[in-house]
Amino acid sequence: MSQNSAKRLRFYDMQPEVNTLYDDVINGLSQPQKQIPPKYFYDERGSALFDAICDTPEYYPTRTEMAIIENNLAAICDRLGHDCVLIEPGSGSSQKVRLLLDRLEPHTYMPLDISSDYLKSVAHGLAQEYPEINVTAACVDYTDPLELPHSTGDLRRIAFFPGSSIGNFEPQEAVTFLGNMADLVRPNGGLLIGVDLKKDPAILNAAYNDQQGITAQFNLNLLAHINRELNADFDLDCFTHRAFYNELLGRIEMHLVSTIKQQVDIAEHCFEFDCNETIHTENSYKYTVTEFQALAHEVGLEPIEVWQDEAGLFSIQYYQLNSSISERASD
Ligand code: AVI
Repeated sequence: MSQNSAKRLRFYDMQPEVNTLYDDVINGLSQPQKQIPPKYFYDERGSALFDAICDTPEYYPTRTEMAIIENNLAAICDRLGHDCVLIEPGSGSSQKVRLLLDRLEPHTYMPLDISSDYLKSVAHGLAQEYPEINVTAACVDYTDPLELPHSTGDLRRIAFFPGSSIGNFEPQEAVTFLGNMADLVRPNGGLLIGVDLKKDPAILNAAYNDQQGITAQFNLNLLAHINRELNADFDLDCFTHRAFYNELLGRIEMHLVSTIKQQVDIAEHCFEFDCNETIHTENSYKYTVTEFQALAHEVGLEPIEVWQDEAGLFSIQYYQLNSSISERASD
C-alpha cells in the first residue's frame, strides 16, 4: 500500500490476476461460434471510441442515465444516506459518480478498477477535486468476489454500478455479480445500479449502429488491438460490423463479419473464416424492471426505488439487502 501525503487518498494494489489476451483469443476463436470477450475492446483507442459512442445522437444510455441522476439527485442521495462509503466497481474515469459526489458527500469514495495506473491518476484527481471526501482506490478485478482493502467500520456501504455494464454479463453471471455486490455491502448497505430497459427494437438497433460509424470502428478496433498485442494478421478491410437486437434473448449482439473466405494467423495458430462467418464480440442485455428485480431477488436484494426517464428508456434502480438475509449474515 502506498499512502499519499494528503491523508485522504489511499491506493491499494490487490494485484488481480489478469487473464491473458492470448488464451482468451485462442480459446474464443476455437469455438464453433467464434467469440472474443468484450473486455478487450478497451485499449486506449477503444476507450476513446467508447467515449465517442456515448456522444452519438443514437446512443441514448449515457445521456439518459445522467439526466435521470441529475433530475432525481436529492431523492437518490436521501436513499443512499450521507456519510456512507460509496464503492464503484469498474470506476474507469469516475465521470458519472461526480454527479453524486457533489451532493452526497460520502465519507469515502472507493473506486475499484483493474487498470492500476489509470486508477491512480483518476483517484489523485478526485482527491484534489473533493478535498472533503476520503478517496480509497483499489486495483482489483471487480468480477471476482471482492474484499475491501480496509475495514469501513460501521459506515454503510453503497455499491454504485452505472452505465448498464450489467447488461454485458450473461444473466447468470449478472446474478453472481449481484451476489458479490450483496456480500460487499452486507449487512446494512445498498446497491445503486443503472439498467438499460427493453424498448422498441428500432431504438436499440440505431443505438448500436450509429450513422457516423463509431460503433463499427469500436468493434473493428478489437482486431487492431489483437494484431498489435499478439502479432496477428487480421485484415480490417475484410471484416464488417454487425449489431442487431435479438428479441428472443433480449439482447443486442455485436459481431464482426468476415466478408470473404480467409485465414488469419495468430502466433502459431491459423484460423479459417468462411465468407459471412462471424466473431461474436459482445452481448448487451436489456431488461424490464420486473425481470431485473427477479435477478436481484435471487441474491436477496430487495427493490427499494426505481427512477426512469419519461420515455422509459433507462432506469436507475436502488436495492437493499433483504433484512432477514442480512441479519442472518451479520449474526
Ligand atoms: C459498456 N457497455 C454498457 C456498452 C453497451 O451498451 O453494452 C458497450 C457498447 N457496445 C457498443 N456500444 C456500447
